[in-house]
Amino acid sequence: MPEIETRILSAEEEDMKTAVSQATALLAAGEIVAVPTETVYGLAADAFNADAVAKVFAAKERPAFDPLIVHISSLKELPEVAELPEDIAPVVKSLAGAFWPGPLTIVLPKSAKVPDIVTSGLPTVAVRQSGSVIFRQIGKALGRPIAAPSANRFGRISPTSASAVMKELDGRIPLIIDGGACSEGVESTIVKIESRGEQRPLIHVLRAGPVTKEDLQKFGKVVIQKRLVSEHPEAPGQLASHYAPLTPLLMFEKPEDFKPEPGKKYGLLSYRGDPKAGYIDLHEWEVVEELSPGSGKLIEAAVRLFYVMRHLDEQGLDAIVAEPVSETGLGVAIMDRLRRAAVGRE
Ligand code: TXA
Ligand code: MG
Repeated sequence: MPEIETRILSAEEEDMKTAVSQATALLAAGEIVAVPTETVYGLAADAFNADAVAKVFAAKERPAFDPLIVHISSLKELPEVAELPEDIAPVVKSLAGAFWPGPLTIVLPKSAKVPDIVTSGLPTVAVRQSGSVIFRQIGKALGRPIAAPSANRFGRISPTSASAVMKELDGRIPLIIDGGACSEGVESTIVKIESRGEQRPLIHVLRAGPVTKEDLQKFGKVVIQKRLVSEHPEAPGQLASHYAPLTPLLMFEKPEDFKPEPGKKYGLLSYRGDPKAGYIDLHEWEVVEELSPGSGKLIEAAVRLFYVMRHLDEQGLDAIVAEPVSETGLGVAIMDRLRRAAVGRE
């Protein structure tokens, strides 16, 4: 791939207009641009332009079998990208009403307008309306839906800041819009709805995220597909090894299972730095990073997760040991990302 110059443009207050118009101009010309969302930074392309979408796959080195999420900037755009079958329309509308704009992605039958490359040939399309004002303004200015996966190389840690995008895609894309740190920190929850006639619909969670099982339960019976790891997984974000640092990341059933090798350097990714969790005093750690120092708040842990993983990855360690967090609410999404980062490394 020929190297191109990657510019970063701030979208803070007075720079916002310029950022929106420059990003929009590039997208309208069939280029790709990294844009912040409330979850992680996305690598955006005009969803109706197959050539532009192909550039996203190339820049990320993403296999063609892994479909992209299509972002709409208003509900009016929904019929352009997806069909709304009668049997699930009420629950889809309720979910959209409750969680959009926000970190929920809904898998629906795709409209003919969406090119096959976007959905990897699937008859369905994953749709969401991002909570990021910058992202939605760009979508509105473009007047078309935006296809955007996370702005990292395939299988790597999702970026939650412009500098993290730079580390992933420098020389591969023309522009990064800098909207500061992402407020959620982990990717959107992905759901698929199954109607059951008179009974409450089933809400299949294909990827755990900021909208939790507890949040979704009001709208149907929630089924978590925690470890969907087949050859053709329904959400390749569910592939066994994903979100992975270059440094091996280790997780253990119990702290005592950790058997350090002499002379090797280990870092600890701790939840809140609590010795009672059994990890802090286990070893002379080279470095200890906490996800939510002191109090242990899952919201803060999610926001910091990919930042801390990236930081530990840059310390020249032989391995990172990750302490588990409690698997309730947002903790489900955090543990999902940690386990996937650890797969194949134990
Ligand atoms: O928060 C997010 O969702 C971010 C921001 C940028 O919006 N995007 C994101 O995209 O995480 P990506 O491509 O990294 O993850 C999207 C996941 C992939 O695992 C993909 O397989 C799944 O969505 N997906 C896309 N279309 C699908 C479909 N039709 N059926 C099932 N899964 C689908
Ligand atoms: Mg991704």
